[in-house]
Amino acid sequence: MLENTILVTGSAGFIGSNFVIDWIKAGLGKVVSLDKLTYAGNLDNLATVIDHPQHEFVRGDIADRALVNKLLLEHKPRAILNFAAESHVDRSIHGPEDFIQTNVVGTFHLLEEARAYWDSCKDMQDPAGNSFKFLHISTDEVYGTLEPQSPAFSEMTAYAPNSPYSASKAASDHLVRAYHHTYGLPVLTTNCSNNYGPHHFPEKLIPLCLLNALAGKPLPIYGDGQQIRDWLYVKDHCSAIRKVLEAGKTGETYNVGGWNEKTNLEVVKVLCQILNEMQPRADGLGYESQITYVQDRPGHDRHYAIDASKIERELGWKPSETFETGIRKTVQWYLEHQDWVQNVLNGDYRQWVAKHYDGN
Ligand code: NAD
Ligand code: DAU
Repeated sequence: MLENTILVTGSAGFIGSNFVIDWIKAGLGKVVSLDKLTYAGNLDNLATVIDHPQHEFVRGDIADRALVNKLLLEHKPRAILNFAAESHVDRSIHGPEDFIQTNVVGTFHLLEEARAYWDSCKDMQDPAGNSFKFLHISTDEVYGTLEPQSPAFSEMTAYAPNSPYSASKAASDHLVRAYHHTYGLPVLTTNCSNNYGPHHFPEKLIPLCLLNALAGKPLPIYGDGQQIRDWLYVKDHCSAIRKVLEAGKTGETYNVGGWNEKTNLEVVKVLCQILNEMQPRADGLGYESQITYVQDRPGHDRHYAIDASKIERELGWKPSETFETGIRKTVQWYLEHQDWVQNVLNGDYRQWVAKHYDGN
C-alpha cells in the first residue's frame, strides 16, 4: 500500500517552499522534503513547517540514486514532485555546468529511481485510492521567444529553448515525456510563467529591485526594458500544481500562467509606485529615480506569453491574484520579513547550512 505521502524535491527554494507550506497547512498529508541546499536553498523558507509532524526534511541531491531509492522504499510516497533545479538564467549563461548536472542528469537519475519504485508498486494505491505519479515542474522558457503576431504558447507549441537554463529544462521535460512513452511511467508536466511572491531569491528581477530600492541602490533594467513576461503569484502556481496532481491526465502537460503580460519596465515601475506608497523615500523622491539601464542579457528572449486555457478548461483552475493584488502582497511580505531579508543578504543562512550539514 502507498502512503498518503509526497516526496517534494527543491523544497527549500522559492516555489518548493511555498508549495510545502500550503500543503502542510491544508492538512493534505505527509511531505518528505529533499533539497541539496545550494545557494538558492534556504531552510528559513521552511521555518513554519520544519518541525511539523507531517514534514520531514532531508538534505540531499536528486542525482544521488542511493538516497532517492532509500527515501522511496522507506516512505512509499504516492507522488514525487520535482521542483529541484538550477533556476537562474543569468547564472546559466555564466556557468552552465550545474544546470546540466541538476536539471538534466539529476532529473534522469530521479526518473530512473521513480521507474524502479513504480515497477514495484504499480498495482498499489494510497488510502484515498491514488496510484503513483511523477509531477515535473517546468517553465514557459522551453518555448523560446514569441514572434510578433504569434499566439501565446500553448501545450502544442514546439520547444525552442534559447538559454542554457531553458535548454536544460527542455531536456528534462523530454526525458519525463520519454519515460511515459517508453516505460509507461505515470508522469505529469507543468510549464509555468514567471512567478513572484514570498521567498523569492533576490537575484531575480522583482526581489532584486525591491531590496535595491529600499537600500538606495540602482534598479538594473536590461537593455530597453521592453521585454515581456507573464507574471503569476507563487501561491497560484502552487494551487495549479495541486490541481494537476489530483486531476491531471497522466502523460499530459499543462501550461500555467497568470494572464498578466507586462514589460520589465512596467513591472519595476509598479513596484516603485507601491513602495512610494508603503515606504516612501526620506528625501521625497520616487523610487523610479533609481531605475538604471544596464547591458542586456546575452540572447535575451523578447517575449513570453502563456495560454493557460487548457488547465482552466479541463481542470477548472484559475489564478486568484491579479498582478496588482499579488505584487502588493509581495511587497508587504518583504517589508514584514526583515529577518529573512537580512539572513539572505548577509549570507547567514549559508553559514547555518555549513555548520549543521557540512561540519564547518
Ligand atoms: P529556486 O532556485 O528558488 O529553488 C531551487 C531549489 O532546488 C533550491 O532549494 C535548491 O537548493 C534545490 N536544488 C538545486 N539543485 C538540487 C539538486 N541537485 N538536488 C536537490 N535539490 C536541489 O527555484 P524556484 O524558482 O523555486 O523554481 C523551482 C522550479 O520551478 C524549477 O524547476 C524551475 O525551473 C521551475 N519554475 C520556476 C519559475 C520561476 O519563476 N521561479 C517559473 C516556472 C518554473
Ligand atoms: O519564465 C519562467 C522563468 O522565469 C523561470 O523558468 C526561471 O526559473 C525564473 O528565474 C524566471 O526567469 P527570468 O529570466 O524571466 O527571470 P528574471 O527575474 O531573472 O528576469 C525577469 C526579466 O527581467 C527578464 O526579462 C530579465 C530582466 N531582468 C532581470 C534581472 C535579474 C532585468 O531587466 N534586470 C535584472 O537585474
